[in-house]
Amino acid sequence: MQRVFSGIQPTGIPHLGNYLGAIRNWVTLQKDHDCFFCLVDMHTLTMPWTPRALREQTLGSTACLLASGIDPTRLYNQSAVSAHARLGWIFDCVSRLGWLNRMTQFKDKAGKHRENHSAGLYVYPNLMAADILAFHATRVPVGDDQRQHLELANDIAQKFNHDMGVDFFPHIDPLIPPHAARVMSLRDGSKKMSKSDPSAQSRLVLTDTADEIAQKIRRAKTDPDALPSEEAGLEGRPEARNLLTIYAAMTDTTLSDVLASFGGQGFGSFKSALADMLVEKLAPVAHETRQLLKNEDHLLHVLRTGAERARSVSEPIVSEAERLVGFLR
Ligand code: TYM
Repeated sequence: MQRVFSGIQPTGIPHLGNYLGAIRNWVTLQKDHDCFFCLVDMHTLTMPWTPRALREQTLGSTACLLASGIDPTRLYNQSAVSAHARLGWIFDCVSRLGWLNRMTQFKDKAGKHRENHSAGLYVYPNLMAADILAFHATRVPVGDDQRQHLELANDIAQKFNHDMGVDFFPHIDPLIPPHAARVMSLRDGSKKMSKSDPSAQSRLVLTDTADEIAQKIRRAKTDPDALPSEEAGLEGRPEARNLLTIYAAMTDTTLSDVLASFGGQGFGSFKSALADMLVEKLAPVAHETRQLLKNEDHLLHVLRTGAERARSVSEPIVSEAERLVGFLR
């Protein structure tokens, strides 16, 4: 059985982009793959955080992932399993500054004032490579924005193998969904939907109420033209394309099916159909998340049990990596 690893930052409640780009595929893959799903709380320290928010958001994300259908035995938080930090350090010493300098996410997140950002933000992709390779995972379901990080993980694995003269770390294949791998902001079709966008109107989160969903969709940015009947008519209309893509992905149909149904109509009627469909699909997740959040002990138990399982698999792999680099035990 192939091993799958993926992670999500507990920086807030997962949004529709996280769901369509990653979580939904995790739920499918866990049926016939050996899966590990990780709340990457160590990665969360790479940007400003508060201890209280981190605790609350880790619990909130745990509840939300379980409500979305993730198998509780496969979920844990990164900091509870020391293999991540240990292999992360080794990879800090394998990875090259030149490689890290090319990472577009670092450039986006650090902006103009790089000097004020943490060293952790810079080496973020090394820890991500360690997350995956500590399990010898070969398949990594992610959204499109993680593609470059996975290429770097493969470079690190190859250099480690080459430098140590072994064939130890496997090649990683990204599993990026063919559609909706990059869900865009509801306020600006040129920006991806993101937890860090200051406008809550820019994203649908999985705990939004029916009213919030309807209101966010009603206010979503669009253009004055009617919907086209063919894909070519979406050229230069990123907001329209985004809403139609969301509709198609959530209903497991194609963009051309959706265009065939709504082409020629104004945004008013399409938006109300979109909101109704989203409420129907997301309201049960929001309800279940709220139920799960009432029992914090259960959520902590899930994370502890998941961490034990994660330790049992990653410990021998990382111990072997440590032996290979020359550490004595
Ligand atoms: P994070 O927390 O930003 O996002 C979690 C997952 O959601 C996907 N995603 C999106 N997909 C489509 N449209 C969007 N607008 C959108 N926004 C986010 C992301 O691609 C991701 O799959 N670095 C990772 C976490 C991580 C990880 C790992 C992932 C740490 N270690 C090892 C895989 C393997 C991140 O920040 O994801």
